[in-house]
Amino acid sequence: MLLEAIDVSKTFRSRRSSAPVHAVQNATLQARPGEFVAIVGESGSGKSTLARLLLDLLDPSEGSIQLDGREVGSMDRTERRAYRRSVQAVLQDPAGSLNPRKRVAQAIGEVIRLHGMARGSAETRHRVTEVLELVGMEPAAAFMDRFPHELSGGQRQRVLIARAIALDPRIIVADEAVSALDASVKAGVLAVMADLKDRLGVGYVFITHDLPVVQKVADHVYVMRHGRILEHGPKDEIFANPSHPYTRELLAASPALP
Ligand SMILES: Nc1ncnc2c1ncn2[C@@H]1O[C@H](COP(=O)(O)OP(=O)(O)OP(=O)(O)O)[C@@H](O)[C@H]1O
Ligand SMILES: [Mg+2]
Repeated sequence: MLLEAIDVSKTFRSRRSSAPVHAVQNATLQARPGEFVAIVGESGSGKSTLARLLLDLLDPSEGSIQLDGREVGSMDRTERRAYRRSVQAVLQDPAGSLNPRKRVAQAIGEVIRLHGMARGSAETRHRVTEVLELVGMEPAAAFMDRFPHELSGGQRQRVLIARAIALDPRIIVADEAVSALDASVKAGVLAVMADLKDRLGVGYVFITHDLPVVQKVADHVYVMRHGRILEHGPKDEIFANPSHPYTRELLAASPALP
């Protein structure tokens, strides 16, 4: 399976101001199951916009998002639904990705039911247990009936990953998914993500401004600035031998790179 952004652009035009915002310009990117792709770049460089384009939450102004050569914009309803299941989002928790009034089992269970991934409540609960265990929340029964506020930040992030995994995605688009977490908690969540890559073969499009994290987990790195992808390549090449001056700047400004 191959997920691609092909020469994709997104321009926001507000009615008031005459100046359009070129949030993403001619970006081309590839992501595959089993691969950890990172997108790095300063604030406002278009990372989240590219993520939303990949997630089919925004329509491109130009270019296309394709899955195995099929353009998402021209898929029929059934295909598009399948697309939205195989490409899942894990976003930063404080943005309110979890409903405060729903217990963990309900939050995960309802997406399982919605997508027809289990029949009946016993089967759904079984699947909820399975995915909670996959993200290291064991015993699952201890977490099922908790509300989001009864979990730590790291646990909430694991629940979001479990909810995504419940739909058997091939690729997870994670936008600043661990950025708000303390170092040790962050390491734990990253370990879970790496483990899911190995065990389930899921791939990631991982968006962050945290270069030490990228150095630790990424296979392939894309560098964005002002809506454009400046360079990309295998992680080791980007870190050892960046070709773009901006990438060199980013690396020089990053803390704690060995
Ligand atoms: N819905 C929108 N309407 C108008 N402009 C937008 C919209 N969404 C994003 N933008 C603009 O597009 C540009 C890219 O924003 P985006 O959120 O993609 O950047 P980012 O790289 O994710 O930044 P950050 O690291 O701060 O999250 C910014 O100038 C932003 O203000
Ligand atoms: Mg962003």
